[in-house]
Amino acid sequence: MLQSTSPDAARPGLHVAIIMDGNGRWAAAHGRPRAAGHAAGVSALREVAETAPALGIATLTVYAFSADNWARPRAEVSALMRLLQRSLATEVDRCVTNGVRLSIIGRRDRLPASLARAIAAAEERTADGRRLWLRVAVDYSARDLIRRAAAAWVGPRPPTREEFSALIGEVGSAGGAPDVDLLVRTGGEQRLSDFLLWECAYAELYFTPRMWPDFDAAELGRAVADFRRRERRFGGLPQAAAG
Ligand code: IPE
Ligand code: IPE
Ligand code: MG
Repeated sequence: MLQSTSPDAARPGLHVAIIMDGNGRWAAAHGRPRAAGHAAGVSALREVAETAPALGIATLTVYAFSADNWARPRAEVSALMRLLQRSLATEVDRCVTNGVRLSIIGRRDRLPASLARAIAAAEERTADGRRLWLRVAVDYSARDLIRRAAAAWVGPRPPTREEFSALIGEVGSAGGAPDVDLLVRTGGEQRLSDFLLWECAYAELYFTPRMWPDFDAAELGRAVADFRRRERRFGGLPQAAAG
């Protein structure tokens, strides 16, 4: 069979998800306040989002603030909310230029009203982006979304997987996304922390000890290259054994 010159050419775009962890420890290691770590994290995300399409990534979902992160000290929570709002304002033009469609997934009703307005404006301005769908999870809990999608289902029979995926997308306010191909977590922890539990059913997992602000284009390239070497079986047999 004729080999394509680009290994990615024939494949549909990947869905990569990232748990951007380690901002606080990065800041501590640099003798700076935790908020400085979060600010450095925004730069890392900009670099990663700009590299993603060239690596064959069509959808990138990143964890910015979990529903459980409300438990942090009030000063850190407000610093994060301010940073999110500021970043939406400063990054939206770049998103438009780079063909990035931005969506926020999670709950909106507990966010400051000004942030909720900034989100709606950024989503509207970037709606036509086709190179990358960047989904940022804010006030996000996968278990909460699954629970609310189950409650929202009306019908004489249980939803199909596709119907339920679409419902989770609607409840999470960005529309249905494909299943996650590759889940990356930085910061050395190896856990899911209530992120994309439904969508990660067959995700390949990649953990790195690097703190999120130190994650860059080269690291993303390594993670995707590692993913490309894996054999996904989805419950079937390895290709060689399947005949
Ligand atoms: C991830 O970094 C960002 C958020 C959870 C908002 P952390 O703030 O969890 O950083 P560490 O894990 O304390 O280093
Ligand atoms: C997960 O990180 C949430 C984000 C990266 C936004 P956490 O730092 O909150 O997770 P745990 O508490 O270590 O599980
Ligand atoms: Mg953490």
